[in-house]
Amino acid sequence: MRDHLIEKVLYSKEEIASMVQRLGQAVSRDYQGKSLVLVSLMKGSVVFTADLMRCITVPCRLECMTVSSYHGAQSSGTVTVLQDISSSLEHTDVLVVEDMVDTGLTLQSICGHLRQKGAANVRSCVLFDKPARRIVPVKADYVGAEVPDAFLVGYGLDYHEYYRNLPYVGILSSAVIDRDCRQNSSQSKE
Ligand code: IMP
Repeated sequence: MRDHLIEKVLYSKEEIASMVQRLGQAVSRDYQGKSLVLVSLMKGSVVFTADLMRCITVPCRLECMTVSSYHGAQSSGTVTVLQDISSSLEHTDVLVVEDMVDTGLTLQSICGHLRQKGAANVRSCVLFDKPARRIVPVKADYVGAEVPDAFLVGYGLDYHEYYRNLPYVGILSSAVIDRDCRQNSSQSKE
């Protein structure tokens, strides 16, 4: 992993761990006496979900959905469900687990989708919130931290599928993104 391509480390491994712990405690407190279905949005939320669920003390089951909305560092504006949940959500309390809310399109679309599948209650827990880029007025119920309008990688967040394995979260160097944009535009002119 080429750490020099990270402009700045925003959250260390330890800071993320205490953020996740705090979120797990809040969820456990609010769902006391209930049971939960965690719906993890793949692939970006895989690391967050694995840590969060171990900080949740109420009974919960895990479901995963694969959704896609990003190409490199750019939101496509359309949310595609690549793999849906097959088990029933009728009368369940659902908590969507998401790495990042950016334009808000993914969270809005997936929460609506899960309500249509019969969930009694759908809330969301996001590790990072990037409010500067919001297109739709979505507000997550649990938020780890607000982040600036920059492209972040690490702890599950990727750039073209790489960097997910960084234990910290950092800002990807704009030189990497600019270089890829230049390469793509020269290839499309050929
Ligand atoms: P939204 O639909 O625009 O809110 O985008 C949500 C999805 O975009 C997240 O689940 C992430 O996978 C991806 N995303 C948004 N911002 C970033 C980022 O800074 N780094 C990596 N992925 C991001």
